[in-house]
Amino acid sequence: MRSKSAACPSLGTVLCVILAFCLTNSRAHGNSSENSISLTVQNDGGNKSSPLLYGIMFEEMDHSDGGIHGQLLQNNGFQGTSLNITSYAAVGNATISQDSTKPVSKAIKSSLRVEVPKGVTDYVGFANTGYNGIPVTGATYNSSFWMMGEYSGTINLQLVGSKSGIKYADHNLTVKSTKSKFTEFKTRFNTTYSPDGYNEWHLTFDGSKVDGGSLNFGYIQLFPPTFKGRENGLRDDLASFLDEIHPAFLRFPGGNNLEGLQVDSRWKWNTTIGPVVDRPGRESDWFYPNTDAIGLDEYLWWCEDMGMAPLLAVWAGKSYGDIISGPDLKPFIKDIMNEMEYLFGDTTTHFGRMRARNGRKKPWKVDLIEIGNEDDLTHGCETYPDRFNQIYKAIHHKYPHITIVASNGDSKCLPSPLPKDVIIDLHLYRKPDDFVKLFNQFDNQPRNQSVMVGEFGCRNSSSAEGEYWPYMQGSCSEAVYMIGMERNSDIVKMASYAPMLQHFDFVSWSPTLYGFNNTPDSITPSTSYYVQKMFMTNKGDTILPVQSSADFGPLYWVASKIHSKYYLKLANYGTDPQTVKVSIPGTKSGRLEMLAGPQYQGDTPYHAQIQTVTTSVFNPQGNFSIHMEPWAIAVLTVS
Ligand SMILES: *[C@@H]1O[C@H](CO)[C@@H](O)[C@H](O)[C@H]1NC(C)=O
Ligand SMILES: *[C@@H]1O[C@H](CO)[C@@H](O)[C@H](O)[C@H]1NC(C)=O
Ligand SMILES: *[C@@H]1O[C@H](CO)[C@@H](O)[C@H](O)[C@H]1NC(C)=O
Ligand SMILES: *[C@@H]1O[C@H](CO)[C@@H](O)[C@H](O)[C@H]1NC(C)=O
Ligand SMILES: *[C@@H]1O[C@H](CO)[C@@H](O)[C@H](O)[C@H]1NC(C)=O
Ligand SMILES: *[C@@H]1O[C@H](CO)[C@@H](O)[C@H](O)[C@H]1NC(C)=O
Ligand SMILES: *[C@@H]1O[C@H](CO)[C@@H](O)[C@H](O)[C@H]1NC(C)=O
Ligand SMILES: *[C@@H]1O[C@H](CO)[C@@H](O)[C@H](O)[C@H]1NC(C)=O
Ligand SMILES: *[C@@H]1O[C@H](CO)[C@@H](O)[C@H](O)[C@H]1NC(C)=O
Ligand SMILES: *[C@@H]1O[C@H](CO)[C@@H](O)[C@H](O)[C@H]1NC(C)=O
Ligand SMILES: *[C@@H]1O[C@H](CO)[C@@H](O)[C@H](O)[C@H]1NC(C)=O
Repeated sequence: MRSKSAACPSLGTVLCVILAFCLTNSRAHGNSSENSISLTVQNDGGNKSSPLLYGIMFEEMDHSDGGIHGQLLQNNGFQGTSLNITSYAAVGNATISQDSTKPVSKAIKSSLRVEVPKGVTDYVGFANTGYNGIPVTGATYNSSFWMMGEYSGTINLQLVGSKSGIKYADHNLTVKSTKSKFTEFKTRFNTTYSPDGYNEWHLTFDGSKVDGGSLNFGYIQLFPPTFKGRENGLRDDLASFLDEIHPAFLRFPGGNNLEGLQVDSRWKWNTTIGPVVDRPGRESDWFYPNTDAIGLDEYLWWCEDMGMAPLLAVWAGKSYGDIISGPDLKPFIKDIMNEMEYLFGDTTTHFGRMRARNGRKKPWKVDLIEIGNEDDLTHGCETYPDRFNQIYKAIHHKYPHITIVASNGDSKCLPSPLPKDVIIDLHLYRKPDDFVKLFNQFDNQPRNQSVMVGEFGCRNSSSAEGEYWPYMQGSCSEAVYMIGMERNSDIVKMASYAPMLQHFDFVSWSPTLYGFNNTPDSITPSTSYYVQKMFMTNKGDTILPVQSSADFGPLYWVASKIHSKYYLKLANYGTDPQTVKVSIPGTKSGRLEMLAGPQYQGDTPYHAQIQTVTTSVFNPQGNFSIHMEPWAIAVLTVS
């Protein structure tokens, strides 16, 4: 069998080993402390697995605005109530202030007034320092701004090192602006690579032409290349990184951030559509304003671009302040039905026409709608059955093809009976041992109630604050829990890890799947990212029975297949290594993906020291021996 090593790819950092029985067996025998377990995967006889099982959940938090959304300038429209002139500074001999007397639009209620003292002869203007800096990658960037005031001539845009003063872009454009109204100017320019993220965007103009007067600027934007080149799109590097895990669905737009701190600061779908300059944004639940530049349509483009099924949540009467139920909910149900018409109506309908005007002629394909968020919590329980029933009835009556998700799984907070085919949504943030205790949570559930685990993630502590990163034991506990879900994916239809993304410099909740800041190459996966990727990219459509020489724990497994390809997922939630002797009759070659590392170690910002390692496997009898380090997670893929 050793002679087959010629079939191994030589992949530099990727170790290439042959997992032949004799070879690994001798290693196992050399270590008397190593436990051994045999698993035989049957070729058939299992249950169908949900095609949507693994997805992602997104809500704006930890500054994914300025992250997954490509726009790089912070506070670009003075939205919300908390920022004032955060991230702006004067450049040269000028004075800047927020000017509410000159709104850019109905939605963007103020602009930046730049006053020029008498006698100035230089270029003057203002800077924006982005979300704690601006990444400058050397790519072509797009930039735009609105402007009002008498000015005809050159505007100079630069990307400049805040400390170094080095210019990474220096670009002139000619504008003609008047004092009667705001005009938008758009341009694009090449940049050179900046070795750090301490950069800012400068807009300056010829001060001598304004001498003693002022100009107003508003809704400024700066975009690096976007995912699939979409306008107002996602940041290409961050989105591509997510795309690599192949999520099957996207749950959006939240989360607590859907609900709002007050009824009036809830997520309002109709203020997140159309030209961005017409979106007011809002103060969010996460201590900063949301731009809403990722709005309803952008979420749906995102889904299409990554091949994900959209799971859209609608506001269901609960905010963190007031809760609206009974007849008072009627106007909000009307609003939901307007939203549905926006999604599904043809262009003869009012809202269908609006969607077409906003760039999407064809109706959107949305087959899953969630009613609210976590209505078992924050005083929602008592009124949820009523609120759910009203909304369910309205949507189901007009759009019977839609599968409805209820926002919790507590029978006290759900209508009784729950209408048939409704999926319940469970959220679990647990310590590692607690996740593992829940391994068999779904084994003995009634098979007639579908479940989604719409948020889950291992948290080592109950503290929400601070920068906290997944580590091997925790990620392994998530893998064990996911194995439990996958074994039961006849009823567990969907599961999504949360939260998804974190800007290292603006953390308000942990853990996270992956993170970044404006430093080059700062995008860092967590060990949980690798677990999600291994589970999502290796999924069969049928779960297979497995005969084993021991019970579950500390080793956990699930086998599946699609066509002639077999997957065996393994997690060793324990302090001892394990030798797993796997037999999958009829298979002979494939690969083994392995994530292993010390119990309390994880990946840390900028350092993905623990990564999945892929090796080739070959055995003509379909027998593979897998050495599992403590806390290791593995997927064997063979055919
Ligand atoms: C046996 O395995 C343990 C745990 O991985 C390791 O610490 C020890 O060095 C191994 N012993 C031998 C003889 O390989
Ligand atoms: C399929 O589901 C049934 C319960 O409906 C369960 O008893 C059985 O173990 C499952 N089969 C597999 C292979 O998981
Ligand atoms: C906004 O910032 C300016 C300049 O720092 C300050 O004078 C003003 O009081 C601030 N306004 C609010 C509402 O905080
Ligand atoms: C700014 O311009 C004013 C008026 O021309 C002048 O008095 C002042 O010295 C200038 N300040 C700087 C820093 O150039
Ligand atoms: C921009 O225009 C100014 C004024 O004409 C000129 O001094 C400067 O060199 C120009 N910069 C670039 C990059 O063309
Ligand atoms: C960027 O540079 C390339 C290569 O030099 C050039 O072809 C392109 O026109 C430039 N783009 C812009 C917007 O200046
Ligand atoms: C950048 O500008 C070009 C030219 O106007 C446009 O084709 C492209 O879609 C824009 N890209 C983004 C991400 O907005
Ligand atoms: C959004 O819809 C609500 C009613 O459902 C309406 O009162 C409001 O004016 C709409 N807002 C926009 C910006 O269209
Ligand atoms: C599922 O089946 C059980 C037992 O047959 C029944 O009591 C329950 O009402 C059913 N639930 C649903 C949602 O149909
Ligand atoms: C997790 O919690 C345990 C128990 O409190 C502690 O020993 C361990 O250091 C923590 N690990 C991390 C990575 O925070
Ligand atoms: C392969 O594994 C099966 C099940 O453990 C075993 O019965 C069989 O003897 C093994 N075959 C070889 C060639 O090792």
